[in-house]
Amino acid sequence: MDLILLGAPGAGKGTQGALLAERLGVPKIATGDILRDAVKRGTELGLEAKRYMDAGELVPDSVVFGLVRDALDAPAAAGGAIFDGFPRNAAQAETLDSILGEHARRVDAVVQIDVPDEAIVRRMSGRRSCPDCGRVYNVYTDPPKAEGVCDACGGALAQRTDDREETVRHRLEVYRTATAPLVAFYERTGRPVHTVDGDRPIEQVQAELLGRLRP
Ligand code: AP5
Repeated sequence: MDLILLGAPGAGKGTQGALLAERLGVPKIATGDILRDAVKRGTELGLEAKRYMDAGELVPDSVVFGLVRDALDAPAAAGGAIFDGFPRNAAQAETLDSILGEHARRVDAVVQIDVPDEAIVRRMSGRRSCPDCGRVYNVYTDPPKAEGVCDACGGALAQRTDDREETVRHRLEVYRTATAPLVAFYERTGRPVHTVDGDRPIEQVQAELLGRLRP
């Protein structure tokens, strides 16, 4: 299955995507995670991406396309993938169709996770992530067992530099302008779009997603 997760920043794409990847046995391809890893390693690509990410802007398509192509060429993605944070605009959606076409695949389903803006701003202020293993927590709703320490690997949890309120509000605007119109694109081109209410406990959202995606 090739599945796209759409949703505003903080809607829960990463959280739900990780659970779905485990349940469906396909890898999650998260362009944000790949870019943050490049930033952390200080690569040329990472240095270029960082200024866009810190400002809450989209990184140029030319940078992102290569990352997605490499991720899809990996043997682990041969049986399908869950796309988290990609595509983000019309050009990316068309490119994904064409890359998948080269693999004789297509987008099988699209999930849109809906969360009101104010809930998102609050969530983002509480998000903490592990820079070592990538696990995501929330100090309000999903805290680690010991404050500031990753349950999974013991790493020191950090707040993302783009989670400041004004940057989050700008990212919401970018989402509305560039990404939200993709829902209409996928509906128009005959790909099933499932919209779920993401402002509920993580387990409830996951259960509904699994129910909707089962054949
Ligand atoms: P990216 O990393 O993709 O960020 P995003 O889309 O803005 O989404 P987030 O990762 O912030 O949120 P999420 O929906 O995954 O929520 P999460 O599960 O973490 O992109 C970052 C930047 O990279 C972009 O701004 C851009 O610059 C660049 N970029 C990335 N991809 C790009 C592309 N394709 N093209 C161009 N540029 C690109 O959850 C959020 C918090 O809420 C967590 O604390 C979590 O614990 C909590 N939570 C989750 N679910 C629930 C729930 N049901 N109830 C309560 N709390 C919950």
